[in-house]
Amino acid sequence: MSGGRAMSGGRAMGGGRAMGGTGLVQLVGAGPGELGLLTVRGLRAIEAAEVIVADRLGARAVLDQLETERGRPLDAEIVDVGKHPGHHAVPQEGIIALLVELGRAGRRVVRLKGGDPYVFGRGGEELAACRAAGVDVEVVPGITSAISVPAVAGIPLTHRGLATAFTVATGHDQIAELGGGRDHTVVLLMGVGTLANSATTLARGERGAGCPVAIVEDGYGAGQRVTIGTLGTIAAQAARRGVRSPAVVVVGDVVRLSPYAPAELAVDGHAVAVAHDPFVPRSARHDPAASPGAPSEKGSR
Ligand SMILES: C[S@@+](CC[C@H](N)C(=O)[O-])C[C@H]1O[C@@H](n2cnc3c(N)ncnc32)[C@H](O)[C@@H]1O
Repeated sequence: MSGGRAMSGGRAMGGGRAMGGTGLVQLVGAGPGELGLLTVRGLRAIEAAEVIVADRLGARAVLDQLETERGRPLDAEIVDVGKHPGHHAVPQEGIIALLVELGRAGRRVVRLKGGDPYVFGRGGEELAACRAAGVDVEVVPGITSAISVPAVAGIPLTHRGLATAFTVATGHDQIAELGGGRDHTVVLLMGVGTLANSATTLARGERGAGCPVAIVEDGYGAGQRVTIGTLGTIAAQAARRGVRSPAVVVVGDVVRLSPYAPAELAVDGHAVAVAHDPFVPRSARHDPAASPGAPSEKGSR
């Protein structure tokens, strides 16, 4: 654990205030793991917090960058509840119990979650549990990976003439019910393990096997990489390249706008700028050729 005053797995330590104090739990969205994409309100909440209960994905990276930028640890005690080397993630019930315990003890708590707390983040459950326990709780929305990670690969989820709607789903059964064609963008979170199934399911509908697909791994991180193919090819490409979580999968014609799209899929003259200038992975900032997401890495069919 780098910086902050550490607390260990799920037990509140340090000087809590008396029971019945005026604690506050703020469920803060950390964005996709790039400090520049944390909201100002989220930053202020982190700076004012006494305890930060942090997920691994997105949240931890933001805390590390913040401490590096400040040149000193945060004042808050930090509890890592996400999975990290040598430690299992704290189960959801344990996280909720910890938030309630800290809130009731009068502590000012930030529950830092990757992306947005309400997008496949179980933020609603944490909010409801705090409320039911009489603990003051509020949500500070974050920039979801569903939108920001495609953007780093130059993929807008809607684009005049190419897509008018988008759906965010996980790679499970619900996409079998999903209608629409290539002009209805589908974004899959947690979709790597079920990619082959999802691609087959989506190809059966109006989209067809030739529908473009992008996988963006570790958006804004040191392992950022973009693979582009079609519903018919993407599972084999992903297996060949050893694609891993975390990754966002984007399905639809908007993928053709990415500068990483191979020539046979690209929309001539319409490539959209990648959202990268200030956000290039830190490891690649002074060496564009070393960027894991550089066009030389684009997927091939
Ligand atoms: C449990 S969901 C949480 C989503 C989060 N609440 C949000 O709004 O982004 C975790 C999934 O988000 C996606 N994800 C989050 N951060 C990512 C990143 N930096 N790069 C790629 N995928 C990311 C992956 O699909 C991952 O499996």
